[in-house]
Amino acid sequence: MKPKHIAIIMDGNGRWAKLKGLPRKEGHKEGANSVESAVQTALEEGIKVLSLYAFSTENWARPKMEIAYLMQLLADTLSKFTENKYKDVKLVFSGRRKGLPSMILNKLDKVIEATKNHKKLTLNLCLNYGARQEITDAVNKIIAQGKTNIKESDIEKNLYQNLPVPDLIIRTSGEERLSNFLLWQAAYSEFYFTKTLWPDFKEKDLLKAIAEYNKRDRRFGKRK
Ligand code: FPP
Repeated sequence: MKPKHIAIIMDGNGRWAKLKGLPRKEGHKEGANSVESAVQTALEEGIKVLSLYAFSTENWARPKMEIAYLMQLLADTLSKFTENKYKDVKLVFSGRRKGLPSMILNKLDKVIEATKNHKKLTLNLCLNYGARQEITDAVNKIIAQGKTNIKESDIEKNLYQNLPVPDLIIRTSGEERLSNFLLWQAAYSEFYFTKTLWPDFKEKDLLKAIAEYNKRDRRFGKRK
């Protein structure tokens, strides 16, 4: 069965640039091209949800210049999702608004509003995102609702987005860890790790990951 929801930890932009003797920002720039390629491929493949880990709560520890560059690149890429070629893409956001520059928040809100009726693919942009923070925020929302005796379904309903859980989680660049991404949602996800660096991860690489997923035997803890 085709994965409904694919989530990607886009890693290796810096190493890609270094290998080519280029400044780090060139890696991010080509990384943004890979983002567009992943969205196009997901559309063509009939994937319903694509979650992208674009900026973690830990990424604020990077040099100011790099953060500023990433934020500008994000804003520019976000603008593209209102173009006609993305008319089937609905943008949603997962993360904490607090801490994000108003330039990004304004742009996010505009694109979310402009794409809210689009149907084919939901692009879940994880920005200023941390999974522990997401679960903590959910618990606090439930407490504020005055609920006691909390059930799993209460947590699920109060996560940043109410989406189907990811079937397949991809991480590029050879690192094999989750780095505070979708901890709640990943309980039964399949993982796919590749040494390919994110700026090199294009259509054929995503198709390969999907083909690999199709070979997996998903049992969700049950016996065959
Ligand atoms: C990892 O590379 C990537 C990021 C920290 C951010 C992801 C950002 C992009 C792919 C660019 C634009 C994104 C969007 C959504 C338009 P790294 O810098 O950690 O690489 P390294 O581990 O090799 O140093």
